[in-house]
Amino acid sequence: MSEIKINLSEKEMPRQWYNLNADMPGCLPPIGPDGKVISPDQLAAVFPMNLIEQEVSRERWIDIPEEILEILARWRPVPLRRAKYLEEYLKTPARIYYKDESVSPGGSHKPNTAVAQAWYNKKFGIKKLTTETGAGQWGTALAFACSLLGLECKVFMVRVSFDQKPMRKLMMHVWGAKCVASPSHETHFGKEVLKRMPDTPGSLGIAISEAIEEAVGDKSGQTRYSLGSVLNHVLLHQTIIGLEAKKQLKIAGEKKPDIVIGCAGGGSNFAGIAFPFVHDKINGEKIEIIPVESSSCPKMTRGIFAYDFGDMAGMTPLLAMYTLGHQFVPPPIHAGGLRYHGMAPMVSHGIEEGLLTPRSVDQVQCYESAMIWAKTEGFICAPETSHAIAVTIEEAKKAKEEGKEKVILFNYSGHGLMDLAGYEKYLTGKLERYSLPDGELKKSIKAIEGFPKAHTKKAHK
Ligand SMILES: Cc1ncc(COP(=O)(O)O)c(C=O)c1O
Repeated sequence: MSEIKINLSEKEMPRQWYNLNADMPGCLPPIGPDGKVISPDQLAAVFPMNLIEQEVSRERWIDIPEEILEILARWRPVPLRRAKYLEEYLKTPARIYYKDESVSPGGSHKPNTAVAQAWYNKKFGIKKLTTETGAGQWGTALAFACSLLGLECKVFMVRVSFDQKPMRKLMMHVWGAKCVASPSHETHFGKEVLKRMPDTPGSLGIAISEAIEEAVGDKSGQTRYSLGSVLNHVLLHQTIIGLEAKKQLKIAGEKKPDIVIGCAGGGSNFAGIAFPFVHDKINGEKIEIIPVESSSCPKMTRGIFAYDFGDMAGMTPLLAMYTLGHQFVPPPIHAGGLRYHGMAPMVSHGIEEGLLTPRSVDQVQCYESAMIWAKTEGFICAPETSHAIAVTIEEAKKAKEEGKEKVILFNYSGHGLMDLAGYEKYLTGKLERYSLPDGELKKSIKAIEGFPKAHTKKAHK
């Protein structure tokens, strides 16, 4: 019997995170509306200074504190699995590996940074964290981390997911967090949006504005905001995924992957698996690295690279990123975690540099792929994860046509056991193909026409 699970011992867990910012000198920093670079002090009302230091750091390797490693060891290192049954089904010469992030307490990669962020906040003396959540994965992850570290937690959950995924809300309650539907009546911005758009499904951009408003509104100074993706320090915490995978691929006898794939909402699980391999690519390895987005929220493949706000109310600094415009409210597709208007600056910069080649996939193709996955490998994946599986299948078929023995690695970002409503829609034929119409795309991008232009300084082309 050939081995299909490659495990590491706790002792073999990486002791440092990899900071791609050290190898991307041209990655543009956040700026204010006046075009000036934001100073760390300007972020201090929103984040604790120890995380702001990570956000702006250009150190290549950053030590993971022992106490964080101890918590992560509850479920890490996670297995690298070989998708042998999918390979057999596809009759492909490709060898497909995936990193199984679904085994965490919350069921996805999100606890990797939730634990780190809660730990740094606690160390800084913070008592309460506020956040947004799309699909509910991030909210549950932060609720879990806050409960372990004794912090209060309040989650603004995008309305459409709040309605579609009541069990996620219950998980947050089990871990002691408060969860409200966004837009809510609990913030000024939420009330204003509800007046303008009473039937809105909500968006991550709106929920982020609400969570920031609540954090900075606490005059005791003991509340901060926590973001589950997009920012440099979040992506940094996720690199433990790719660093483990590297060790495991070696054990499996593979020199390197030929293709690395991750689905991308704000970019964190993709960055987690991919950035350690981007480092290798910068240093000469030939690797195709593919972030995969939804065709209904196609910022990387059809958006523009520009300075834009991270939230709808314009409370965040301007970030240089691929964006559809911060006023964009995506249609209520089932991959809630991919409904964000922008892509992480570091991932966006990697695209500008030609290091990453993004793709978009329609939700029907994603569910078809998720069904093949469930019937071959046996696991039911999260709707977001199905985007990575769809492209993995495309690439495995291509390898078959070309007769090439490629090594494909992808990130299995989460399980779908709390997301069965989407599967039900698919199984009853109610799920439709959807690609964002050109008119809507243009309208939404027009809203940022007058913003400062982002000019990439390329170092790697
Ligand atoms: C399972 C899963 N995968 C992927 C994502 C996308 O987020 P990110 O791009 O930050 O990894 C989410 C977001 O909620 C998610 O829940």
